[in-house]
Amino acid sequence: MAYALSKDNFTKMSEFIYRKSGIYLEEEKHYDKLAKFIDSRINTLGLDNFRRYFFKLRFEDKEGDEFQELMNAITVNETYFFREVNQFEVLANHILPSLHKVKPKNEPIRILSSPCSTGEEPYSIILHILQEGTVVEERDIEVVGIDIDSTVIEKAKKSQYTSRSVHAIPKPILNRWFKKKGMGYSLVDDLIGVVDFQVVNVFDKAAMRKLGKFDVIFSRNMMIYFDDASRKEVAMTFYDLLNPGGYVLLGHAEYMSRIVSVFNAKKIDTTLVYQK
Ligand SMILES: C[S@@+](CC[C@H](N)C(=O)[O-])C[C@H]1O[C@@H](n2cnc3c(N)ncnc32)[C@H](O)[C@@H]1O
Repeated sequence: MAYALSKDNFTKMSEFIYRKSGIYLEEEKHYDKLAKFIDSRINTLGLDNFRRYFFKLRFEDKEGDEFQELMNAITVNETYFFREVNQFEVLANHILPSLHKVKPKNEPIRILSSPCSTGEEPYSIILHILQEGTVVEERDIEVVGIDIDSTVIEKAKKSQYTSRSVHAIPKPILNRWFKKKGMGYSLVDDLIGVVDFQVVNVFDKAAMRKLGKFDVIFSRNMMIYFDDASRKEVAMTFYDLLNPGGYVLLGHAEYMSRIVSVFNAKKIDTTLVYQK
């Protein structure tokens, strides 16, 4: 049976998605997935055809619920604890102590994980901060995790993880901070709730501003789904959100210098960081 979404309408949908989320879908790779999703929404909502669905999405979605369904269906949420671990080590051993030295004692150090998916990245940040131990004794550290996908944020808040998700955590750290739960693991109660998780689209400038200023932004493995214009826009949003001297860390396949020239790129050990 043919899908309700024709190939011509795929172009319309992908333009709409790109404009709203920066995510760039290619027909060859994404047509089937998107078409199946739209068929299921048309069925659930009792609509007649793609035209009705697209109208509803654009003009009858005041609360953004249908757009949220769409985002939850198309995002790629792959993540795990201690992914690209050298960056967390550089944070704990170099960036935190140096921020601690220069920031007024009464101000918190604020770290953003954007995007955080199901929470493994911001909790890896927390586990490294605890491991370092001295800065967290002496001042407040706030970690905020945001993602456009509301299902991953719900999961992040529950903090229940599979064995696959924790596979890279050294055993002593796993035993100290996790409890075995069913087939997987749960964070110990003391850690649940220490990350402030929120559903936010990085292209929503007002929502991003509301998060406040940060000293460090982790933005790993999101911009790979964007084109250059969207990468540039997000990079400048991060620049505005950072305090002077603040840092951005990107995924290993992402490079700021190809996008904008406002940051100073430098290597700490072998890890590339970008400083405002
Ligand atoms: C592959 S995960 C990366 C998670 C984590 N940073 C890591 O490297 O393991 C990419 C995440 O980006 C999120 N994302 C995509 N577009 C976004 C947007 N416009 N605003 C916020 N999050 C977005 C997706 O929902 C997905 O959870």
